[in-house]
Amino acid sequence: VVRAHAGRFVAAVDQGTTSTRCLVFDHGGRVVSAAQSEHRQSFPRPGWAEVDALEIWRSTQRVVNLALARAGIGAEDVAALGLANQRETTVVWDRRTGRPVAPAITWQDTRATDVAAQVAAGPDGVLVEEITGLRPAGYFSAPRLHWLLEHVPGLERRARAGEVLFGTMETWLAWNITGGGDGGVHVTDVTNAHRTLLVDERTLEWDPRLLEVFGVPAAMLPAVRPNVGVVGTCRTLLPGVPLAGAFGDQQAALFGQACFDRGQSKCTYGTGAFLLANTGGSPVRAGVTESGLLSTVAYQLDGEEPQYAVEASIAYAGALVSWFRDSLGLLRTAPEVETLARQVEDNGGCYVVPAFAGLFSPLWDPDARGVVAGLTSYVTKAHLARAVLEATAWQTYDVVEALATGPGLTLDRLRVDGGMTANNLLMQTIADVLDVPVDRPLVAESVSRGAAYAAGLAVGFWPDLDVLRGTWRRAASWTPEMSADRRRRELAGWRRAVERTLGWVV
Ligand code: G3P
Repeated sequence: VVRAHAGRFVAAVDQGTTSTRCLVFDHGGRVVSAAQSEHRQSFPRPGWAEVDALEIWRSTQRVVNLALARAGIGAEDVAALGLANQRETTVVWDRRTGRPVAPAITWQDTRATDVAAQVAAGPDGVLVEEITGLRPAGYFSAPRLHWLLEHVPGLERRARAGEVLFGTMETWLAWNITGGGDGGVHVTDVTNAHRTLLVDERTLEWDPRLLEVFGVPAAMLPAVRPNVGVVGTCRTLLPGVPLAGAFGDQQAALFGQACFDRGQSKCTYGTGAFLLANTGGSPVRAGVTESGLLSTVAYQLDGEEPQYAVEASIAYAGALVSWFRDSLGLLRTAPEVETLARQVEDNGGCYVVPAFAGLFSPLWDPDARGVVAGLTSYVTKAHLARAVLEATAWQTYDVVEALATGPGLTLDRLRVDGGMTANNLLMQTIADVLDVPVDRPLVAESVSRGAAYAAGLAVGFWPDLDVLRGTWRRAASWTPEMSADRRRRELAGWRRAVERTLGWVV
C-alpha cells in the first residue's frame, strides 16, 4: 500500500491526436484548472499522418505548467500525475540524445496497411489473432514499427544493440518526464501495450513469436505495467511527484466514466469516436472480430487481474468537422457547425462518409475513401453541415448494431463524452438514430478524468473504485424523438453512401 502523498490535487495529461491537455482535479473529481495546446500534424503524402514527438513533449511541459499556474498551485500540491494518450501512434528515439529517429507515425496513417495485410493473409495472421485477439491491421503499432525498422537506415541494428527505444506517446512522455537518458523510466501500460499486436491478450506480456512476426527486437521495448500503480518519480516536470497511472485514451475514458463493471459502456467523441463496453475479467472473442469489433484490455489495477472490453473504433468523428472547417473553409470555428446545421430541417438528401483513413469498425476496409453522396442543386452548406454531424451519429449506429449482432451486447442507454458532446444537435441526433437515451456527465473530459483516477488511486488519494463511482454525475440527457419511418429512410441513404466508399483505392 502506498501512503497518500500530501498534495491536494491530482494532475492528468491527455496527449491527443491534435492537442495535449493538462487538467487538475480535486478530491471530488472536479476540474480545478485546465490548459491545452495544439500541435502540428503533417500529411506528407495521401494516407500519411505524422507528428513531431519533440513538439508534443514541449507542449506537454507548457500545458502542465500553465494548468498549475491557473490553479495557483505548485508541484508540492500535486499528489500524483496520470497520463492518457492517443493510442497506436508510434515513435522510436535515441536513448542517449532523446531525439526521435523519425517523425512519429500516427494511428491515422495508412502506410503500414500492406505490412499488416501480408501478415493477415499468411499463416502468421491466425497466430497473431490467436494470441492477441486482434486481426492484424495497419491501425495497430507493430506494423508501423516494422515500417520504421525497414525504412530508417541502420535502425534495426541500433534497436538490437539497445541504442534506440520504442514507445507510444505515454511511453515517450513518461521517459521524458522521469528525466530521460539513463534515468528515464521506459514503461508502457497494458492497454497501450496490447494495441501494438505484440502482447498476449491474457498474460499481457510481450510474446516472442509476435516479435518474430513483425521483426521487432526485444531490446527496444518498454516494460509493461498495470494502469494503476506508481512507475517512477517526475523530474523534469512536476519534480518529486509520483507518476502513478497511464492509459490509452479510450480506456481512460471508460475508467473516467466509472464504467468499472461488466455491461457498462461509453462512447468518446474526439478526433475519432470509440465505443467501449466493459466485458469483465476475461476477454470476449465470440462474434467480436467477425463483426468488425476489437477485443481490448479495459484496465488493470496493480496486483489484480486485468479487465477487458469490446471496442468499436470509428476513425473520423470530430476530425470531419475540422476538415470541413480547415480544408473546405466552410466554418470559422468548430462549434459553428451546429448553428449552420440548425438552419435546415434535414440533410437535403446528402450524406458524407468520412472514410479518410479507410473505414474502421465495423467494415474495416483500408481501401475505402470518403464520399459526399446524394448531391443536387438543392443542397446548401447547411445541409452539408447536417450531413457532417449525421455521419458521426450513423457511424455510432453501425457499431451499436455490430455490438448487438456480434457479441450480443445491447445498450439501453449510452454514456458519452469528449469535445463533440458540447454539440447538442449531435447528441439529439445520436439519441434519435440509436433510439436510446444518451447521457452526458458533468465532467465531459473523461479521458483526463480516467488518467487522474488511475494516478489518484495508486497513491491513496482516492481509496477505491466505489468512491470514484460516487463522483459520476449526469449533467444532461437526450431522449429519442425521431420517427421509426424517418430513421429507416435515412439509414437506407447512409448505407448506400457507405457502399460507395468501399474498395476505392485500386
Ligand atoms: O486509437 C486512437 C485513439 O486513441 C485516438 O483518440 O481522442 O484522439 O480521437 P482521439
